[in-house]
Amino acid sequence: MYKKLGFIIASSAFLAACSGTNDYTPKAGATGENMYIAACASCHNGEFSHWQMTPEEANAGYVKKMIAEGTMGMPAFPNIKGEQLEVLTQFVLENNAK
Ligand code: HEC
Repeated sequence: MYKKLGFIIASSAFLAACSGTNDYTPKAGATGENMYIAACASCHNGEFSHWQMTPEEANAGYVKKMIAEGTMGMPAFPNIKGEQLEVLTQFVLENNAK
C-alpha cells in the first residue's frame, strides 16, 4: 500500500519536473549564470548540452519564447520576466554551442 503510494508520488514529481509550468522566481539582481544554475542546469548542464540552436534559432525572440512558453520536455518559466528575462536570454545566447 505505502509502496504504491510512494510510486505515485514519485511519478507525479517526475512529470511535474518535465513539463508544465515552473514557478522559479529569480532573486533581485540575479545574474544569467545564477538563474541558469538555479533553473536550467538540471536539464541543460555540461559543456555540450547547454543549447544547440541553429543560427536561425539563436536570437532573443526565440529564446524568450522558450523561457516563457516551454517546449516538449521543458516547463514554461512565467516568473522570469522583464530585465531578468533580458539578462538570462543574453546568457543563453552567449552559451549556445553553435
Ligand atoms: C525539465 C528540463 C528543462 C529545464 C529545467 C529547462 N529546459 Fe530548456 N529545454 C528542455 C528540453 C527537453 C528542450 C528541447 C531540446 C530539443 O528540442 O533539442 C529545451 C530547449 C530549450 C531551448 C531551445 C534551444 C535548444 O537547444 O533546443 C532553450 C533556449 C532553452 N531550453 C532554455 C532554457 C532555459 C533558459 C532554462 C532555464 C530558465 C531551461 N531551458 C530549463 C528541457 C529543460
